[in-house]
Amino acid sequence: MNKQLPIAILGILAVIAVLVLWPKATQLPQEETTLIPDGFVIPSLNATQKLGQSNFNKSCASCHGDYGLGSANGPPLMHRIYEPNHHGDGAFFLAALNGVRAHHWKFGDMPPVDGITETEIAPIVAYVRALQQANGVF
Ligand code: HEC
Repeated sequence: MNKQLPIAILGILAVIAVLVLWPKATQLPQEETTLIPDGFVIPSLNATQKLGQSNFNKSCASCHGDYGLGSANGPPLMHRIYEPNHHGDGAFFLAALNGVRAHHWKFGDMPPVDGITETEIAPIVAYVRALQQANGVF
């Protein structure tokens, strides 16, 4: 038998697998994407704020949602409660480093964010403040 035939069949199977699985793989994250409310403004971000966005997505968005809009696991940070005069920047460092005992919401305690450093938190604060500012949260 032609030695190349099995290779060709494998190749075709691989292509079919990719065609079948690819759309599923790309659809999955969409189901978990936070619903962005109408009129929510995503401002253009400077370099620090962009770094903050990527740190936020890694360490905070699983609970506080994309763009800090909240999720089933944690409250929105785009909320009057978290304006700078209610929760200053220091509250963000303390929350991430030490965790938070539930007091405003019914999501339970926020655990300390494992392994996060002040250097990683600072741009997160800049990012959250930029989003808050763009949306009149303060
Ligand atoms: C496992 C879920 C979870 C993760 C991950 C998480 N948070 Fe929270 N966070 C919460 C919950 C729940 C609360 C609300 C507690 C309450 O009821 O007031 C909260 C509250 C806060 C508060 C308010 C603190 C206060 O003094 O009231 C800040 C600020 C905050 N989170 C920032 C962050 C930042 C920044 C990150 C990422 C570095 C992060 N959180 C990651 C769940 C989480």
